[in-house]
Amino acid sequence: MKNYNIAVIPGDGTGPEVIGEGLKVLQAAAKKFGFTVTPNHFPFGGKRYLETGKLVDEADEAELRKNDAIYLGAIGLNANDAKQVPPGILEKNILLKLRFDFDQYINLRPVKLFPGVESPIKNVTPEIMDYVVVRENTGGVYTGMGGNMMKDTPQEVSSQEWIYTRFQVDRCLRYAFELAKKRHTAEAPFRGLSAEAKAAGKTARLTLCGKTNVLTNVFGLWERAAKEMAKQYPTVELNYRHVDAICLLMVQDPGQFDVIVTDNMFGDIITDLGAATQGGLGVAAGGNLNPEGISMYEPIGGTAPDWTGKNGINPIAAIAAAALMISNLGETEAGAAIEKAIAQVTPMMKTQLAGQMGYTTTEIGDLVVSKL
Ligand code: IPM
Ligand code: MN
Repeated sequence: MKNYNIAVIPGDGTGPEVIGEGLKVLQAAAKKFGFTVTPNHFPFGGKRYLETGKLVDEADEAELRKNDAIYLGAIGLNANDAKQVPPGILEKNILLKLRFDFDQYINLRPVKLFPGVESPIKNVTPEIMDYVVVRENTGGVYTGMGGNMMKDTPQEVSSQEWIYTRFQVDRCLRYAFELAKKRHTAEAPFRGLSAEAKAAGKTARLTLCGKTNVLTNVFGLWERAAKEMAKQYPTVELNYRHVDAICLLMVQDPGQFDVIVTDNMFGDIITDLGAATQGGLGVAAGGNLNPEGISMYEPIGGTAPDWTGKNGINPIAAIAAAALMISNLGETEAGAAIEKAIAQVTPMMKTQLAGQMGYTTTEIGDLVVSKL
């Protein structure tokens, strides 16, 4: 029987609670679909940092590398403890470090409205809101290039450089074009395409999100590279939107999106907006992918310290992240079954908000298992 070794980083706050439900569902799916999952726990997080000063080092990464994937809860401290740690320490030395060191160059964030989930957008349905954001995940302004000069003087100079190589842009675009191509068939093309586009043989739409009117250097590169690559994907309609317009359209007309591809910083921002439109952080899942290596899956939400230990946090995002993980590991049937089970449970929930779901965290996990 095939076994998958999963490095589990429950993290801080409610991370362990939601990851517990994700693992519960994963184990049930494994049993049903004939494979096994071996979780290997890693204690990384803010709590361990405060206690021991340890973040993530090379030896930790060597242990992580023995696994097929990484399953992450959330990392961060409650407001009181956070006073002792300057912002950026945990982010840069745990989450971003893993993204960079494992070269997880894609951040895949589906914006999918599950049945029964209330969106702040009126009249939106699961059929209309079902797109994916492909966020470049290791470049751009996240690389840390730049610095400060004459710090803490009135003349202080600071810079933070927005850097992309052609290589980084191309591999991200490649992933996005391939994904767009795979999401639809000629028989069932993306419903947002015009009749003319369909007649011309298009089946999918890829929207490049940039800022070519201001950040002309970087997004000029993205646009040129995308146009060039589009020639290899005759079934994918490539279009372009500025990031500010994307924010407007994600609210006013989410049905026009199929796959959005964008840079690291813009991707960070628009996926929080996407999460809000799909019902909040309780349901939004994502994957930091190295398509050739070890990927890391996580609920997009944070540690929700106020809810820690109350059995009231929403585990749906963590369960959806587990579904994405197992699908990408090759168990696509199991992944699809978990997604279907989630879609049967969300209509039973009162809301997707912590403490107002009509069920406890563990009950939601049990319900998803019962629908598998
Ligand atoms: C995210 C988060 C991270 C990011 C932070 C915690 C460094 O906001 O995963 O979207 O900016 O990428
Ligand atoms: Mn973010």
